[in-house]
Amino acid sequence: MRHFINLKDIPSKDLRKIIIDAKKRKNHRKALSTLEVDKGAPLKGKMLVQMFEKPSSRTRISFYLAIKQLGGGTLTLRSNELHLGQGGESIADTAKILSTYADGFMLRTDNDKKIDEFKKYLKIPIINGLSPESHPTQILSDVFTVEEILKKPISKLKISWVGDSNNVLDSLIAASVKFSFKLSIGCPKKFEPGKKIKQWVKKNKKKIHIYNDPKKAVLNADVIFADKVISLNDKVDKKKKLQYFKKFKINKKLVSYAKKKCIFLHCLPRGNEVHDEIFLGKNSYVWQQALNRVHVQKSILLYCFGKLR
Ligand code: CP
Ligand code: NVA
Repeated sequence: MRHFINLKDIPSKDLRKIIIDAKKRKNHRKALSTLEVDKGAPLKGKMLVQMFEKPSSRTRISFYLAIKQLGGGTLTLRSNELHLGQGGESIADTAKILSTYADGFMLRTDNDKKIDEFKKYLKIPIINGLSPESHPTQILSDVFTVEEILKKPISKLKISWVGDSNNVLDSLIAASVKFSFKLSIGCPKKFEPGKKIKQWVKKNKKKIHIYNDPKKAVLNADVIFADKVISLNDKVDKKKKLQYFKKFKINKKLVSYAKKKCIFLHCLPRGNEVHDEIFLGKNSYVWQQALNRVHVQKSILLYCFGKLR
């Protein structure tokens, strides 16, 4: 049994194994329809509980498909439907109950400490389906998407991020260390990545490049990543924060500084950080990116259940 909480804590070779398995599984499914089960039904009889403290479209649907395609089943809960969410039951007791009924637990939470607390009492694997500090299933899937489209190991590519320093970026930074790729970040000075993640990069003897000019960040990039300026956990003056990002909008002019065949990715949902001309344009692969969540999360589930080939 293994947890999947933060890319920082997972060995590179395990992350690579997950990607290799996802590629094989995706290829083998070409002739299968949405709910047909993979050969051998590797998670037959297994039950995944998903709990969301915050909204989700992609994560909940893609995990539903992922476990179904492996032969298992899932139940999706909103935390406010549970005694836990109403303040009437502890995490410790909830974790023990989850371990009694289910085989795996996926949590989207507003507090990373809750994941640690659950982990302490769970006897089943926990998967982080987005927290204030990271969004590991998204970024591992995005590494898969980049390599699938550009047909090169990500270590040979220049990746750039334009926008806020948030959970998705922290996972991208962790991935840049785990997969050894060059990462350039374009963001306003006030919204640069935090000390904690920068120190972790340094401790791992790696580097990230931070620019307060988006043109410098995307120069010669193979991939441009973006995300909403205002995240679900952001308790800021939204209007004020958006002002800082005015210069960081992704449009044709900005993308022209990247490589000609550069691809644009965005985890969705989007705000107005990117123009339609890019988001819906020929360089954008955002729908393929969303679909790949299913394939990669299947291999993440297998990893957690100790069934990765
Ligand atoms: N990208 C992503 O995690 O989307 P949801 O918030 O819809 O799950
Ligand atoms: N950074 C965003 C990602 C949404 C999938 C958020 O946390 O809201």
